[in-house]
Amino acid sequence: MEKLELSQVVQGFWRLNTWQMDSQTLNRHLNELVEMGVTSMDHADIYGDYTCEGLFGQALKLSPNLRDSMQIITKCGIELVSKTQKLHDYHQYNYTKEHIEASVERSLKELNINEIDLLLLHRPSPLLNPVEVADTLKGLHQGGKVKHFGVSNFKRHQFDVLQKAMQSIGLNLEYNQVEISPLCLENIEDGTLNDMLTRDVDIMCWSPLAGGNIFKTSETNRVLQSVAKKYETTIDDISYRFINQLPNKIHPIVGSQNIQRTQIAQKAMNSSLDSKDWFEIYKATLGRDIL
Ligand SMILES: NC(=O)c1ccc[n+]([C@@H]2O[C@H](COP(=O)([O-])OP(=O)(O)OC[C@H]3O[C@@H](n4cnc5c(N)ncnc54)[C@H](OP(=O)(O)O)[C@@H]3O)[C@@H](O)[C@H]2O)c1
Repeated sequence: MEKLELSQVVQGFWRLNTWQMDSQTLNRHLNELVEMGVTSMDHADIYGDYTCEGLFGQALKLSPNLRDSMQIITKCGIELVSKTQKLHDYHQYNYTKEHIEASVERSLKELNINEIDLLLLHRPSPLLNPVEVADTLKGLHQGGKVKHFGVSNFKRHQFDVLQKAMQSIGLNLEYNQVEISPLCLENIEDGTLNDMLTRDVDIMCWSPLAGGNIFKTSETNRVLQSVAKKYETTIDDISYRFINQLPNKIHPIVGSQNIQRTQIAQKAMNSSLDSKDWFEIYKATLGRDIL
């Protein structure tokens, strides 16, 4: 099966329930995103206390053909005790067949679609049984409910054990969605990005602006400001360029409700930084010089 192509920049909907957009406004927003080439939409069952998929689905309904121009991503595997809905009574990870299938059914209904383009397992769990999970995912694939699969926040060994089970039954994990920003170097430092490069697995990067924390006072913010001044641009532009400079194919997931801010990300992913500037930002977050 051909790998799923995502748009270079992905739009994230974690914060959608705070955007205060009615369905018409959100529908216009979605049309604008697709027109500018941001066609991949990132969700999870749990976003907004289980409400974001539904808000998106209501807006999608207003342009029935729009869905065909999108790649819709969602996730499963976390159970939250919701404040508003009686779904689960305990906070845990759950990768049983029963939970995965129920979560997918709910996502399809909420998103108002017939098939999920890319389903991600949201976080690794010590109790995840790779053979059972692969078998469940195969059923969803054969039943026409999910086209492609990936993971999120998985380290190499967690990735490898599931990929082995997947590939033994003719499926493939195509993406790993992990946190990367000028303030979060974890997946660079611990080798996850190198591991995924070796395995030919592309990266989606969440919270590329550290959830807005790049704008707060810190040594990294000070360096970002000084680099931005040099390039006569903004620190969000510099942050996306910082991510773009890494050797992996990386799709930043923009969390902003502001379309101009998504455009900044799009433009930045065709721009670069002088390596000296890249290392200044890197060292600021490391809090020390390199060896
Ligand atoms: N797989 C996972 O475990 C996981 C975890 C977290 C998130 N995600 C995904 O990643 C997506 C992005 O995460 P994120 O929302 O944390 O991303 P982010 O882009 O790092 O942060 C977005 C936040 O920064 C603010 N912001 C952006 N530009 C700004 C500016 N110029 N000045 C001031 N504030 C600014 C936004 O506010 P405005 O809306 O006002 O612009 C928004 O509150 C999520 O939507 C979700 O799809 C995945």
